[in-house]
Amino acid sequence: MHKILVWDWPVRIGHWMLVGAFALAWLSSESEAWRLVHACAGGTMAGVVIFRLFWGVVGTRHARFASFVRGPGAALAYVRGLATDSPPHVVGHNPAGGWAILALLGLTLLSAASGWFVYQDAGGTWAEDLHEGLSSMLLGMVLLHVAGVLLGSLAHRENLVHAMFSGFKQGPAHAAIATARPLPVLVLLGCAVLCAWWFAQ
Ligand code: HEM
Repeated sequence: MHKILVWDWPVRIGHWMLVGAFALAWLSSESEAWRLVHACAGGTMAGVVIFRLFWGVVGTRHARFASFVRGPGAALAYVRGLATDSPPHVVGHNPAGGWAILALLGLTLLSAASGWFVYQDAGGTWAEDLHEGLSSMLLGMVLLHVAGVLLGSLAHRENLVHAMFSGFKQGPAHAAIATARPLPVLVLLGCAVLCAWWFAQ
């Protein structure tokens, strides 16, 4: 096992943008005065997710959906393996984490879309109820996700949060990505700014 580059720049920057925008969206959710900030935070999240869907197809090896989306059987086997002395180590996202990521991306997009209707004063109370329900589900999923990250870090004795900052994890040399791809971060930022602006209209 070596210290190898696993997460490229767009994955890392996109992730921490999601965390920041999510926190801002929650903090501003109850205030009428912060309505614009709330809409911009939601738009930013939508932009990051739209970019991530594209990056999941054309991005680096461990960023691609094809590399980490596995069947439910693999996810269950991984969760069962966590209870053993030597849980299987995965270089990219583990099979259970892969499902959590799909749920996080899907709920973020649905929550942002329903929020857009509310901000446009379209859809009435059903849109408000839907937005509140989806956002609460997203919060639940985030808490589950963070618990899973902490559990995985303990099980593998590897700091996964630090890896999301540095990009480096433990793994065989052949599993490393060749470059961190900094330039597509500009496309990510463009998507986020464009969506935030559009949501604020
Ligand atoms: C402080 C809170 C959070 C921490 C500490 C955290 C930590 C992490 C870590 C360590 C990973 C990599 C997991 C792995 O090694 O397989 C990850 C992935 C991910 N997290 Fe979080 N997370 C947090 C909050 C969030 C939030 C709020 C969202 C979305 C609303 C989110 C969405 C994601 C997504 C989509 C991925 C997959 C990254 C990718 O492949 O692009 N996370 N998170």
